[in-house]
Amino acid sequence: MEGFNHSRVAEFVLLGLTDSPELQIFLVVVFSIFYLITMLGNCLILLTVISTAHLHSPMYFLLSNLSLIDMCLSSFATPKMIMDFFAQRKTISFEGCISQIFFLHLFTGTEIVLLICMSFDRYIAICKPLHYSTIMSEQVCVGLVVTSWTVGLLHTISQLAFILYLPFCGPNVVDSFFCDLPLVIHLACIDIYVLGIFMISTSGVIALLSFLLLLTSYITVLVTIKTHSSTASSKALSTCTAHFIVVFMFFGPCIFIYVWPFTNFLVDKVLSVFYTIFTPFLNPLVYTLRNQEVKAAMKKKLSYQKFNIGKTTPRYPVQ
Ligand SMILES: *[C@@H]1O[C@H](CO)[C@@H](O)[C@H](O)[C@H]1NC(C)=O
Repeated sequence: MEGFNHSRVAEFVLLGLTDSPELQIFLVVVFSIFYLITMLGNCLILLTVISTAHLHSPMYFLLSNLSLIDMCLSSFATPKMIMDFFAQRKTISFEGCISQIFFLHLFTGTEIVLLICMSFDRYIAICKPLHYSTIMSEQVCVGLVVTSWTVGLLHTISQLAFILYLPFCGPNVVDSFFCDLPLVIHLACIDIYVLGIFMISTSGVIALLSFLLLLTSYITVLVTIKTHSSTASSKALSTCTAHFIVVFMFFGPCIFIYVWPFTNFLVDKVLSVFYTIFTPFLNPLVYTLRNQEVKAAMKKKLSYQKFNIGKTTPRYPVQ
């Protein structure tokens, strides 16, 4: 109740990544290029999977759903950050800050569950190949996607319900380029240190457990591939390695920031670049460069599009 007597801050000031003008120009260029490639790459994966009949399998459906989340994840803060590089004073409204936290947790939470679903899919495909088509039916696949978003949303609500009741009465400087929970909780006008650590570490521990679960499932898959050597095994191995690289790049920073939430190092800022800019950029790269099927389908789509430019009536290839 006490919290409602304070007048709430109207906006937060973001310190951004750096003060140096030269470095800022450099980062604007680098981040803009990354953002563009991320959007184009993920868009291409999405369109390729949707429009290629032989890619209509659970693995590729989950992959295209991942691309969709990646586009969301890279869009909720990066464009504003790029624009902010040109602003003298970088600010964000209270509501804007809360919505950044909302989207950050919704998209990362959903992505984590989706990555677990993808590892489950690979586990069934490689360790229980005879039951694959019965277990991974279309309903199950849709169910996994719906579950991912539901869990992501529930996680977000639980974190936000906590922060919305905190009084923000004065301090408003966020030492990063977007609002994240550990940084913002720091600014509340009551001493919530212990509770705050507890709440945030819950996210950290869940991320850590998910990571261990993924690690175990991929190790099981790898061991299975090694013992049942077959002609398909090198392909399975490369798919799983690709999945694993993505998992590692994604979880490393998340766990670091959330398991030790009150260490406001420069490291935290650099790490947040990882999961908002680098991982969404990496996913299409890892999946497409390492996957012959997707690459071949994309090439076909791209050359077909080129061939068709200028024609008035679109024609579709006979499948
Ligand atoms: C996400 O996965 C579902 C379930 O398999 C699939 O039907 C849908 O097309 C996918 N959505 C996207 C955008 O790829």
